[in-house]
Amino acid sequence: AEGDAAKGEKVFKKCKACHQIGEGAENKVGPQLNGVVGRAIGSVDGYKYSDGYLALGEQGEAWDEEKLMAYLLDPKDFLKEAGVKRKSKMTFKLKKEDQREDVIAYLKTFSAE
Ligand code: HEM
Repeated sequence: AEGDAAKGEKVFKKCKACHQIGEGAENKVGPQLNGVVGRAIGSVDGYKYSDGYLALGEQGEAWDEEKLMAYLLDPKDFLKEAGVKRKSKMTFKLKKEDQREDVIAYLKTFSAE
């Protein structure tokens, strides 16, 4: 199903412990998330990513809705499935499918596409 960006804004409160988005967003515990839908994995300047993210970005992989659905369910499993080092500083998981759809819809409102 298509996500609901307004509901996703509420879900994003869980992410705010570590991520900023919107005007003036900066890297904190995690990288800033402006433009993340369509952005190369592991590509924010000045953020020190784990190796697996950098490897995927170097392979030309970019975040899309499908990858984000899998990633937010389980970051380590996503990296393992993608065939790179499984280590991730993000261990947070969003189990509920509708919440993942909604938060991705919210992220898209800060992306060009
Ligand atoms: C990385 C999204 C919650 C910490 C990422 C990335 C995305 C993302 C898309 C990869 C970014 C990139 O490749 O540039 C989200 C969303 C969240 C969430 C949508 C809420 C639903 C959290 C929370 C924490 C966190 C709560 C901290 C407790 C991190 C860290 C990284 C990261 C540290 C970098 C991982 C590494 O390099 O090992 N997040 N995140 N995230 N996130 Fe989150």
